[in-house]
Amino acid sequence: MKQTMQVHGNLEGVRDSLIETLRALYDYEVDEDAFLPRELMQTLSRLTAQMNREIALYITRDGEVVDVSVGTDRDVELRDYRLRRNAERLSCVRCVHTHPNGDGHLSDVDLSALRSFRYDAMVAVGCRDGEPTFVQAAFLGEKGSVLMDDPCRWYRVPEAEWLRQVEESDRIVGWEEPEVKSGRERAVLMGIESEESLAELARLAETAGAEVVASYLQKRDKPDTGLFIGRGRADELSRQCQALEADVCIFDEELTGIQVRNLEDLLRVKVVDRTTLILDIFAQRASSAEGKLQVELAQLQYQSTRLIGQGLVLSRLAGGIGTRGPGESKLEMNRRRIRERMTELRRRLEAVEKQRAIRRKSRERNEIPVVALVGYTNAGKSTLLNRMTGSDVYVQDQLFATLDAVSRRLETAEHTPYLLVDTVGFIRKLPHALVSAFRSTLEEAALADVLLIVSDGASEEMLRQHETVEQVLSDLGATEQPRIEVINKCDLGQAVPAIPGAVMVSAKTGEGLDELAGRIAAEIQQTFAPVTFFLPFSQYGVLSQIRPLGRVVSEDYTDEGTELTIMLSAEDRDRLVSRYGTDILKK
Ligand code: GTP
Repeated sequence: MKQTMQVHGNLEGVRDSLIETLRALYDYEVDEDAFLPRELMQTLSRLTAQMNREIALYITRDGEVVDVSVGTDRDVELRDYRLRRNAERLSCVRCVHTHPNGDGHLSDVDLSALRSFRYDAMVAVGCRDGEPTFVQAAFLGEKGSVLMDDPCRWYRVPEAEWLRQVEESDRIVGWEEPEVKSGRERAVLMGIESEESLAELARLAETAGAEVVASYLQKRDKPDTGLFIGRGRADELSRQCQALEADVCIFDEELTGIQVRNLEDLLRVKVVDRTTLILDIFAQRASSAEGKLQVELAQLQYQSTRLIGQGLVLSRLAGGIGTRGPGESKLEMNRRRIRERMTELRRRLEAVEKQRAIRRKSRERNEIPVVALVGYTNAGKSTLLNRMTGSDVYVQDQLFATLDAVSRRLETAEHTPYLLVDTVGFIRKLPHALVSAFRSTLEEAALADVLLIVSDGASEEMLRQHETVEQVLSDLGATEQPRIEVINKCDLGQAVPAIPGAVMVSAKTGEGLDELAGRIAAEIQQTFAPVTFFLPFSQYGVLSQIRPLGRVVSEDYTDEGTELTIMLSAEDRDRLVSRYGTDILKK
């Protein structure tokens, strides 16, 4: 097994004499009844201090040193010694490595490497000022579990016990039934902004069907142009992805095409950015013809700006989690084909939008006020709609459960009918391509007479989410209409009424819904107040202009003329009065 006798890893700037000393470690033989001789720990600690780098040593059960590797001051590349014949069994090699910061604890990466590479044991030796401090060892247990004690002082290593533990692990591991892989992709997340944004990315990844195995934050003001994160961090991430057996690495921002390519080369896993992930979820969720067209257009728009080089094959289209969406059938699309497809989609969308406009027009003619539910994804909009209307719109504890605008007809206590419209949930960093593709759906909200802004009272992020909602609404130009602030999920008891004037409700228990209904009625009433006209027969023609503007409450004929009471918006009332004078109003 010992073929090269070469010291591996990061030897840049290391003196030749030191490399010689490191190479001499290959000659070291550990007694069969010893686990980790003190003398070896001392040598490793001395060398670690001289280089300020980690050293990893791989020792077989026969006590032979089969590899010596040098890393950075924070990590060292961990090697795979599994035998190809039987990758399920232990590798018969233990990995001993140093931690130059004096910390004898094994890190999560160390433990993942233990699982992945099936070492006999994974051992960390903390070193300070050239001396060992604490040592910790971990072993594999049943079903991928890890067994370990707290770090012990370096001169108290329970050698016999640890040797016995290797035998025990060997007995357990490899004789089990091979674990059935869940089939979900294992995702590692990488962010540069904040923990909150990263936590949300984790929810998005899970919604898309991935299993998040780790997430890392490296705060940066400006992303690196080539690799998004710095080179050193990217190298580290590569090792982490390897150790965690990740299938995909998801970045919490938008990446350029070049960054994706560079990162994929380096990390050797699929690389996806936040926007692609959101588009992917939309692709999964779109159910109406219009929704599907919108998502496909948004995906193509986003991906077409990320093609590298002229005429390159658009293989990244299939890059989302689980390879969904239009990419499946269009792996081989080039720029020209994408352009054609986008034109085709736009044409079809226009036709659908025309239909929508016709429907909207007819609604306007009936003058039914529209109340739109808007809010951050998962705030409980659909649940609220269901509760208020007794219908069963799809509700899931997932992001973006609702994609298509759903509307239901309701009445206030005074029997004024109105439409309650559910809209797609908003989210931080909502991809621009999506906003433009979904413009017509989102405009349902923008054109509504009253906005019901639903916030998730159970979320610690409520206020920030509320800010995002405000931002998206102002992007859509929905700033004029009256708003009702609603804090939902108050049954969970965490809400602080931090939004002035908000109605506290629970869509789940029904609490606060009467008050909400009252507020809606009041807003509608304000916008659409009953107005009574009195028109003599000589002005009969005016009646036919007024009637279609609102819901007619009553119409009575007297000898002098007609008395008409109708629900009108203040705008229409003022227009009529300025045209025909106040005489048309009943005195
Ligand atoms: P998107 O479709 O993503 O925009 O979400 P949404 O705002 O329509 O949220 P939805 O109604 O799908 O609810 C999200 C989750 O919150 C579901 O698991 C609901 O059961 C839960 N939920 C909604 N309202 C309440 C509530 O008042 N109390 C509690 N405890 N949970 C609620």
